[in-house]
Amino acid sequence: MKKLAVLLVIAAFVGTACFAIAADKPAKVTYEVKMGNVTFDHAKHEGLTDCATCHHTGDQQPCKSCHDGTKAPASKDAYHKNCKDCHKKEGKGPTKCKECHVK
Ligand code: HEC
Ligand code: HEC
Ligand code: HEC
Ligand code: HEC
Repeated sequence: MKKLAVLLVIAAFVGTACFAIAADKPAKVTYEVKMGNVTFDHAKHEGLTDCATCHHTGDQQPCKSCHDGTKAPASKDAYHKNCKDCHKKEGKGPTKCKECHVK
């Protein structure tokens, strides 16, 4: 009986830990832009490359916390470069305005 209780406690702990990690990463992010909203499927992109390809500073802060046009290039340029350059290089994923910016 005692053994089972210990296992249950461990299971609950591991379960909470996994949940905490999963909750930090967004499944999808939607950027509201006048010319059309952009939907970024984070979960899908995680399998395509390393975290650091996009989170290039090693931590996982929102891009705009640095990309405000003073500390780092403006966010529009950073996103366009990150997103479009890879899609071009891979020959997969949208590269035309209206393929990302959907009204
Ligand atoms: C293809 C690019 C890309 C890859 C690969 C990627 N991310 Fe992200 N991640 C983003 C973008 C874009 C956001 C949205 C944040 C923003 O726009 O400011 C984000 C958001 C996050 C956030 C939330 C940040 C916040 O505070 O809002 C976390 C945590 C995170 N990513 C972790 C990870 C981890 C861990 C991996 C690897 C398993 C990973 N990401 C892979 C692009 C990427
Ligand atoms: C902690 C601050 C910080 C965060 C967070 C950050 N960046 Fe950056 N980023 C920089 C700095 C500073 C530069 C310019 C210096 C350099 O080229 O390394 C840069 C450069 C870039 C460049 C190259 C720009 C160019 O014109 O060559 C891209 C693309 C980029 N970041 C994308 C992103 C994306 C996408 C995110 C979020 C997933 C992000 N960055 C998060 C600080 C940050
Ligand atoms: C490291 C390379 C890489 C980066 C960086 C990247 N993508 Fe992608 N993206 C891909 C690939 C590869 C596909 C095609 C996946 C497939 O067809 O299975 C794709 C597909 C997509 C699609 C098609 C629909 C979907 O969700 O599958 C959208 C929209 C998209 N990307 C948006 C973005 C945005 C917005 C960013 C920047 C925040 C971004 N991507 C950054 C590689 C990348
Ligand atoms: C791969 C996807 C993708 C493609 C292709 C793309 N964009 Fe974007 N665009 C984004 C993302 C992501 C943002 C960042 C939105 C934000 O900062 O909230 C953005 C931001 C913008 C903004 C800035 C909006 C603002 O509020 O600052 C403009 C304007 C824009 N894009 C125009 C264009 C034009 C014009 C094209 C075609 C030449 C284009 N985009 C192609 C993903 C894309």
